[in-house]
Amino acid sequence: MELPPSLPLFRKTRFYHYLFLLLSLVVFLISYSAFLLPSSPSVTSLANLIWPTPKPTKKNKDKLPFAIGEAEKECDLFSGNWVWDESSRPLYEESECPYLLPQQTCQEHGRPDKDYLYWRWQPHNCLIPRFDASLMLETLRGKRMMFVGDSLNRGQFISLVCLVHKIIPNDAKSLHKVDSFTIFTAKNYNATIEFYWAPFLLESNADSPGKHRVPDRIVRKDSINTHGQNWKGVDIMVFNTYIWWMTGRTFKILNGTFDDNIKHIADVPTEDAYGMAMENLLRWIKGNVDPKRNRVFFTSMSPSHAWSKEWGGDPNGNCYNETKMIDDPNYWGSDSRKSIMQVIGEEFGKSKVPITFLNITQLSMPRKDAHTSIYKERWGPLCQEERANPVSYADCIHWCVPGIQDVWNELLFAKLFYP
Ligand SMILES: *[C@@H]1O[C@H](CO)[C@@H](O)[C@H](O)[C@H]1NC(C)=O
Ligand SMILES: *[C@@H]1O[C@H](CO)[C@@H](O)[C@H](O)[C@H]1NC(C)=O
Ligand SMILES: *[C@@H]1O[C@H](CO)[C@@H](O)[C@H](O)[C@H]1NC(C)=O
Ligand SMILES: *[C@@H]1O[C@H](CO)[C@@H](O)[C@H](O)[C@H]1NC(C)=O
Repeated sequence: MELPPSLPLFRKTRFYHYLFLLLSLVVFLISYSAFLLPSSPSVTSLANLIWPTPKPTKKNKDKLPFAIGEAEKECDLFSGNWVWDESSRPLYEESECPYLLPQQTCQEHGRPDKDYLYWRWQPHNCLIPRFDASLMLETLRGKRMMFVGDSLNRGQFISLVCLVHKIIPNDAKSLHKVDSFTIFTAKNYNATIEFYWAPFLLESNADSPGKHRVPDRIVRKDSINTHGQNWKGVDIMVFNTYIWWMTGRTFKILNGTFDDNIKHIADVPTEDAYGMAMENLLRWIKGNVDPKRNRVFFTSMSPSHAWSKEWGGDPNGNCYNETKMIDDPNYWGSDSRKSIMQVIGEEFGKSKVPITFLNITQLSMPRKDAHTSIYKERWGPLCQEERANPVSYADCIHWCVPGIQDVWNELLFAKLFYP
């Protein structure tokens, strides 16, 4: 018996083999050139012919409010480096923003150096969109944006006001304080950008907006609604809370009310106390935020620079007289507790409502040069000892504005419009 001629089959196999190779080559070339020339329309449309754009998926359906585009793929805005840029920095001059607080205006208070003003943040794999004041204000038309938290968040609030105010005529804008609120109004836009003082987010004995220095900080358990009732209906919220919790390894939590005659106060590990606050915040967000209309941001801890020995400097120094940043991009100071960062990650991981996390801690870490140090308004006059030793009264927590907090707002802007 003769076997059927095998040649045709062989040929056929060979043919498919070559066809396969050829197709693979085409596929490879298209994918590779698309990678090299991401914006080339012909390549993109050719690629689309072969692989049609996927049907709108869950991701598109769940598009975040205010988004006008998407972030570039593989883009982590918070991972990058600082780039010297005299052409585009600073974004405005100190003298151009009448809303700056006397705790922020370093140049006015005699800071002799200016280098800290010229650094731009450059993410590794993408560009930060240019801050557009007009887009920001148009988006806020008929809306409210609110920063809630401590003085660091207030600093960021003022920086945002400085970034937008220039395009508004003088008689159509104002800034005023009422109780826990500081409100910037853009009349022609019927828009407000607000700050609400609540350094723990929860009710505490440090809530008085004017007089909040207390010797022994106490936070009331499960009290988010005390302040939360004042945030209802806000369209864009930006929360922070951290530095006020840093009183030691434990924190005092009140079970009951501040009016109780006998107060039940428990000392709990700070991480647990902070976690309780985050759970409260999530509960408030779940009950009061409409994920189709509102956006929620949370800013991570702002690093401070109180111990120069941590970055290999003077054993008794701090941020005073620092004019250069720390070279090591992975430097992490002990003031920013990783255990708290972990609590934030764990709690926010549970949220059903999207919370946009502004993870500014690592990127701000090298910026020991950007604090207000001694160049700010003081509460009282200096005593002789202080005068002799400026390190003793340098503020290594807050930041000069303009400066690094404008960058945080550029990142907020990017995440708001291109999440
Ligand atoms: C102004 O904005 C508020 C929300 O902040 C809104 O309730 C009100 O209807 C707006 N007024 C006008 C005239 O658009
Ligand atoms: C707080 O007080 C409530 C009611 O007084 C009580 O049921 C609860 O066990 C207390 N919680 C703690 C942690 O002490
Ligand atoms: C500030 O730092 C410079 C070097 O960077 C040093 O020469 C100068 O003595 C320092 N000034 C004070 C007051 O510590
Ligand atoms: C924030 O970024 C740091 C490093 O840049 C990372 O270690 C940390 O896990 C991030 N935090 C969260 C909650 O994602």
